Amino acid sequence: MTNILIVNSSPNPDNSVSRALTAQFAEQFQTAKPDSRVTQRDVGLTPIPHVDQDMVNAYYTPPEDWSAEQVGVLALSDTIVNEVEAADIIVIGSPMHNFGITSGLKAWIDHLARVGRTFNYTENGPVGTLGGRKVFVITARGGWYHEGAPAAAMDMQEPFLRTVLGFVGLDDVTFVHAEGVTGGTAGIDAAEAEIAAITATETVRAA
Ligand SMILES: Cc1cc2nc3c(=O)[nH]c(=O)nc-3n(C[C@H](O)[C@H](O)[C@H](O)COP(=O)(O)O)c2cc1C
Repeated sequence: MTNILIVNSSPNPDNSVSRALTAQFAEQFQTAKPDSRVTQRDVGLTPIPHVDQDMVNAYYTPPEDWSAEQVGVLALSDTIVNEVEAADIIVIGSPMHNFGITSGLKAWIDHLARVGRTFNYTENGPVGTLGGRKVFVITARGGWYHEGAPAAAMDMQEPFLRTVLGFVGLDDVTFVHAEGVTGGTAGIDAAEAEIAAITATETVRAA
């Protein structure tokens, strides 16, 4: 059994490019491996709260000192971490908004990156706890940001996600970019072909 967690973060319910591509991934993966189970977390259509000071205080309180109130404050973060821990494969749909990620996906990351839970400070520096899982990030972007493109340096999306996912131990990350989506379908076609190749090859068998 392979557990797949799909995290969608587009606020667009009807014709979102990233939603269509994460759905393609899930459908093709399940066709190739019928015993896989898909869990959905949607931080675009069902936004989660931004981290507030009560959450920060609870993050930095040792579990043995949590008040009943703090246990409640941490409940959503616990659920989000549990969903990732239960997954073998995590597929993140990430629209580019203002050169970075959507605010919904940022809130998801802020619930996921938790000292003492998904990373620990050690004498060798911070070490993430979520390793051993494959992550596929499927982006949708109006423009072109691949290496060599004039706007490549403006891409704050892939570098940020690689850094923060790696920080919590998710260092096996593959990006599929649907670029130039406002100017035609070539970028979407290319992303669809990449996803079809991923779900048809050894990645599926190994998971
Ligand atoms: C608020 C907003 C900000 C955007 N910012 C950028 C941007 O900085 N660079 C870019 O290439 N495209 C930008 N776009 C275009 C989106 O990346 C593009 O429409 C993409 O398809 C969105 O993903 P979705 O269709 O899954 O919602 C922006 C779109 C919106 C709505």
